[in-house]
Amino acid sequence: MTLHIADAEQVLTEKSDQLNTRWYPYYHLAARAGWMNDPNGLVWFDGWFHAFYQHHPYSTEWGPMHWGHARSRDLMRWEHLPVALAPEGPEDKDGCFSGSAVVNGNELALIYTGHKFHGDPSSEDNLYQVQCLATSRDGVNFTRKGQILDTPSGLHHFRDPKVWKEGEMWYMVVGARVEDTGQVRLYRSEDLHHWHEQGILAEAPHGMGYMWECPDFFTLDDKQVLMFSPQGMAAEGYANRNLFQSGYIVGRWQPGEKFIQESKFQELDHGHDFYAPQSFLAPDGRRIVIGWMDMWESPLPEQQDGWAGMFTLPRELVITPNNQLQMRPVHEVESLREEWYSWPVSTLKNKQLCVMHNCEAAEVIVTWDTSLSEAEQYGIALDDGMRLYIDNQAKRLILERNYPQHNLCGQRSIPMPTGDELNLRVFFDRSSVEVFVNDGEACLSSRIYPQQRQLNVFAWSGNAVLKECGAWNLR
Ligand code: FRU
Repeated sequence: MTLHIADAEQVLTEKSDQLNTRWYPYYHLAARAGWMNDPNGLVWFDGWFHAFYQHHPYSTEWGPMHWGHARSRDLMRWEHLPVALAPEGPEDKDGCFSGSAVVNGNELALIYTGHKFHGDPSSEDNLYQVQCLATSRDGVNFTRKGQILDTPSGLHHFRDPKVWKEGEMWYMVVGARVEDTGQVRLYRSEDLHHWHEQGILAEAPHGMGYMWECPDFFTLDDKQVLMFSPQGMAAEGYANRNLFQSGYIVGRWQPGEKFIQESKFQELDHGHDFYAPQSFLAPDGRRIVIGWMDMWESPLPEQQDGWAGMFTLPRELVITPNNQLQMRPVHEVESLREEWYSWPVSTLKNKQLCVMHNCEAAEVIVTWDTSLSEAEQYGIALDDGMRLYIDNQAKRLILERNYPQHNLCGQRSIPMPTGDELNLRVFFDRSSVEVFVNDGEACLSSRIYPQQRQLNVFAWSGNAVLKECGAWNLR
């Protein structure tokens, strides 16, 4: 059956009226209804930021992929646009998978993966993934141009093209699976239509994954960063705890040369829910990244409400001299702030205090004096479902969620940052929390499903000292 954009639009119009919005985000992008996964085609075009996404309009489960579409002037207030791509085939008859967007003269070009089976879809031997092109002048309606790059012979998994321009040439990285080894392959083109193989940009060493999804390759300061989402890495201690990871390798590259890696793979975000991040350049030169704030095969309680999946906040990327990427929310987020409430508390000992009765859409700022805080555990708690706290015995900063009714319990954590104070900037939306540690040193993002929204600060088994604390309600 061929699925068309008009059918998707009709279904979305009906279904978006029937959502239960108790967990639907106020200021993060989510689909009007139905399923959403990866960010796709993030780009600035014609005065707008455009965000596309993997989308199944017909149900809250993953299914034949479409490209959902929204645009924004400020990265915060999003306007939904009609579905941009539907699997109308033949080259993408089983799904329009992830990809990217570039501005080519006065056109917006989407480069995406056509997903199709030749014959019985239950066998991966019949799977083909090819790269396709669609273009638009108005940034709303897209003309399909068909396949531009075939599956290399012998491969089946070959997807998620990310295209950029270097001088006069277009380049593209594509994720690939060669038996059980993840790869990123590189291509070059003069016109976006004809692509020439440039070899393997990077490949998984043993244990680094059987498939590398959603590669992105970009320059930050004078370094090149390969960001990707490997499938099949084993957890190690506190690292790589999610089903799939997302992270980066820093190195040096120039057209025509090999990618010389200078760092090992590092996770970009340490929360429960962060996958398939994609970056883009803002007109002012900022490199901004957005991820899918969910994880494959993790329960999504909002499915019962008619929707599933959301994006993270857009985050500005910076690189440190020791090849670490840091993420901080784009400054546009400040335009959401309403009144600031300072919390009347400076020390706490063996108690908890309610600091907000209804923490729904809020930016919370808490700076602990860690040199004077010897409580065994101190932090903030949203009802009894979420805690963000310092464990002084384990010397870790822990993000914990506890929703047994939704089959979601567990912790993610990072080593306790060094220094005498610890600054936490925490963004709550109706079903998400994003924690920025010490202005970007680390980030933890997770989905949460509060029933009550009372926010407490606490210190158990000892005292804790606050230097600054309070919150902005966000619009
Ligand atoms: C990553 C991914 C991509 C693929 C898309 C399908 O989450 O698996 O590799 O293109 O999702 O929806």
